[in-house]
Amino acid sequence: MDIRIRKSNKRDIESVKKIAVKAFQFNSDLRKKILGKEMFKIFYPDWQNKKRRTIEYLFNSEDCKVFVAESKGKIVGFASFKLDKAKPFVSEILTNAVSPRYQGQGIAKMLYKKLLDELKSMRIKYVYVGTNNDFAKKAYEKVGFVKKLESTQYFMKL
Ligand SMILES: CC(C)(COP(=O)(O)OP(=O)(O)OC[C@H]1O[C@@H](n2cnc3c(N)ncnc32)[C@H](O)[C@@H]1OP(=O)(O)O)[C@@H](O)C(=O)NCCC(=O)NCCS
Repeated sequence: MDIRIRKSNKRDIESVKKIAVKAFQFNSDLRKKILGKEMFKIFYPDWQNKKRRTIEYLFNSEDCKVFVAESKGKIVGFASFKLDKAKPFVSEILTNAVSPRYQGQGIAKMLYKKLLDELKSMRIKYVYVGTNNDFAKKAYEKVGFVKKLESTQYFMKL
């Protein structure tokens, strides 16, 4: 498959929002399954709009950069990072997703590699990322993230 990774521009924002909502449906369904409908509604109401607002933030914040993956001129995935003004040698990888139809073909790994190359070229020395998604974990480990701190969230109805 012919995939090109490039820096995003403002015209990409709507495509990226659509991919984010489609791809995070999987994570959301898993949460609903674990928490049950009632608790899911309490803790994750309106998650789609929240995701869209996150994308707006990533595109509009001068501390963030978004890269997109294109196949035949169509955006099929994206990944982002944020710089830390207080620690100019540190960056966090933020929201990223690949359109469900294009998953499992190495696109996330290509995007992560591109982010890491970009960060290296900016002389960033340390990078971190958090996720609950098992596919993302695999991909992060493949591109070199080996040190990890696991954490768990607990929920209970009183
Ligand atoms: C996480 C995500 C970006 C990975 O995208 P991707 O392009 O499918 O990832 P890759 O193809 O690079 O594969 C990553 C690993 O997951 C595996 N994988 C991906 N999709 C899979 C599937 N449906 N079934 C089994 N394995 C799968 C790949 O085989 C690969 O493992 P490997 O290197 O051992 O072969 C994508 O699943 C997604 O958008 N998830 C929802 C959003 C999300 O959680 N984003 C990450 C955190 S912000």
